[in-house]
Amino acid sequence: MKGIVFTEFLDMVEASYGLEVVDSIIENCELPSGGAYTAVGTYNFNEMVSLLSQLSNVTGASQQDLLYSFGHYLFGGLVQAHPDVVTNYKSPIGLLNCIEDHIHVHVRKLYPDAELPEFKIISKTENTMEMIYSSSRGLYALAHGLIVKTFEYFHKAVNVDYKLLNENGTEVRFNITQKG
Ligand code: HEM
Repeated sequence: MKGIVFTEFLDMVEASYGLEVVDSIIENCELPSGGAYTAVGTYNFNEMVSLLSQLSNVTGASQQDLLYSFGHYLFGGLVQAHPDVVTNYKSPIGLLNCIEDHIHVHVRKLYPDAELPEFKIISKTENTMEMIYSSSRGLYALAHGLIVKTFEYFHKAVNVDYKLLNENGTEVRFNITQKG
């Protein structure tokens, strides 16, 4: 997993819970990296699993709720780091429609070792979109937060429903309806 995901995660923890919580979750995790991440580095995904689990223990929030909030936060960080990637889009559905064939393709060029999910578009109209998230990492709650934040970014209201297509959430169908 790319360092930018870790640096943004720890920034969110600091902003929401304070530096002490950042220090304590890093200490409790016994991370191979020691918790010293750089945005362009690459780290074992298990480190994120450990950090998330510790944060859940400390805060009492569920891991899925934390991932959803992190999706909101991460969207801002990704846009800041790669403004050129999003400026081409005029609508949230237009942007989501291009994650697979444009945005993450560009990301793969920048970071050849990125571990990216797959999004398959099942149907799309001007105001609706149905897509399937697939990733062995099962970060569908992160995707949910990123999707909702994409609409906020364009100042649009949205309703997002999802359904797990298997037990571990490595395949999840999203039904997205823009309102207004
Ligand atoms: C703003 C433009 C975007 C950029 C620059 C971007 C870039 C990235 C990067 C660098 C990663 C980390 C890959 C790794 O850890 O190796 C990532 C992962 C991910 N991206 Fe994007 N992304 C963008 C938009 C989105 C949007 C709108 C979604 C909404 C669904 C999305 C869904 C995900 C998910 C769920 C992951 C986690 C990996 C996984 O689930 O397997 N991304 N993205």
